[in-house]
Amino acid sequence: MGTWKICKFKEINSTNTALKAMTDAPHGTVFVASRQTAGRGRRGRSFCSPHGIYLSVLLRRQEAPEALLHLTAMTAVAIRRAISEVSGLDAEIKWVNDLLLNGKKICGILVEGCGDGRYVIGIGLNCNTDPEELAPEIRDIAGCFSCDEDTLIEAVVRNLQDMDAHLMDGRSAWIREYTEHCMTVGKPVLLVRADCRQEAFAEGIDENGALLVRYADGKTAAVCSGEASVRGLDGYF
Ligand code: BTN
Repeated sequence: MGTWKICKFKEINSTNTALKAMTDAPHGTVFVASRQTAGRGRRGRSFCSPHGIYLSVLLRRQEAPEALLHLTAMTAVAIRRAISEVSGLDAEIKWVNDLLLNGKKICGILVEGCGDGRYVIGIGLNCNTDPEELAPEIRDIAGCFSCDEDTLIEAVVRNLQDMDAHLMDGRSAWIREYTEHCMTVGKPVLLVRADCRQEAFAEGIDENGALLVRYADGKTAAVCSGEASVRGLDGYF
């Protein structure tokens, strides 16, 4: 495995934004910060970033974007493994790529394709985060955990390297591991789209990381992450 270059910052606007702007950064460049002033989440939302671990890695991949749809799901597996190795904690995956501990979100993942073979994978971990520093509106759904930060960063990078090395030949095994730890599977869910909400039953995960659902009329579908977000029928999860 080639060495990845790790650049550490105390504070940055957003590790994803900064890494995307460095158009000549080589494959495996990692930006990691303890705090972000303009952290970004999925669906154009901001990502509350008080003290924690905010890490982005740049991958340069030759495959067509349609062949890399499973990148997001495999990232969730890599980060779950890293947390488990370092802290012994057994995080659950909420489709598509939130990690939860005791029902609270401890990690969010944002994968951004730049359209030129560059992919920036951003990971926000509420590690050693003071719950009081979280925005009041997310205090009920966000969780924090503690562990040695440098050890976790090393484990995250190592597991991402492993994911990158096995992105094409490890897919089935990684998706199986994803499914085993995905709390969304086997539950009734609410699919939230831009223009409608629909109840369904989550039956599994396909090879692209899409959620396989069955609707009340018996029809089935593979829902991809850009298309809908998912909630439990009785609340956020
Ligand atoms: C989400 O849960 O909506 C995804 C959150 C992704 C946050 C990470 S923190 C590191 C990287 N930099 C960002 O601005 N966002 C990602």
